[in-house]
Amino acid sequence: MSDDLDRDSWERRWTRVLDADPTGVDRRPPNALLLAEVADLPAGVALDAGAGHGSEALWLAARGWRVTAVDFAATALARGAGRAGREGAEVAARIAWVEGDLGSWTPPAAHFDLVTCFYVHVAGSVPEMVRRLAGGVARGGTLLLVGQPGAAGQTQVSVPDALEVLDTDRWEIVVAEDRRRGARGAATDAVVRARRRT
Ligand SMILES: C[S@@+](CC[C@H](N)C(=O)[O-])C[C@H]1O[C@@H](n2cnc3c(N)ncnc32)[C@H](O)[C@@H]1O
Repeated sequence: MSDDLDRDSWERRWTRVLDADPTGVDRRPPNALLLAEVADLPAGVALDAGAGHGSEALWLAARGWRVTAVDFAATALARGAGRAGREGAEVAARIAWVEGDLGSWTPPAAHFDLVTCFYVHVAGSVPEMVRRLAGGVARGGTLLLVGQPGAAGQTQVSVPDALEVLDTDRWEIVVAEDRRRGARGAATDAVVRARRRT
């Protein structure tokens, strides 16, 4: 893994961001793709893999989801946990902040009604990480993966990598596309939403 993608560099990055503007990340809205793809799902048990500042985990928890928020940057997790506390005891109690490296961290098998992963690069193989995360989705549950194609020096989830793993006998592919960000934006997001059949 290149040096600027490992745990220490993410720690430094989060520390720098929080030092520069301690409350700035608290104002970051949850990703619009999460709202678009998940708003129609009933609340259940969710995993946010690579949760960062926690905006997505907080949004889910505020809607009744019980969330496991995994990241390898303790600084980001601490900020998210503090923010959850300020949202109120009920929301805070619904989120477990877990320090883990998604290069190897494996969710409990078939446990989650929703597994999300937004903009996480991996040191190893993307299909291997997708396979591990997909293994955590319960029958009938949803896998939502979003990656930025060609993000500088990073390998994030792509549509082909995800589809390589998601066997259509076991998964209904609901969305698999490179979606333009904003009406006129040049950037695209690789968006994969799949529902586990069996
Ligand atoms: C670009 S940020 C995205 C944060 C959040 N998902 C979002 O969409 O705003 C990537 C996050 O993934 C975390 N991350 C990167 N590689 C990781 C790994 N191997 N294991 C766990 N977390 C990782 C970083 O610490 C960072 O918080």
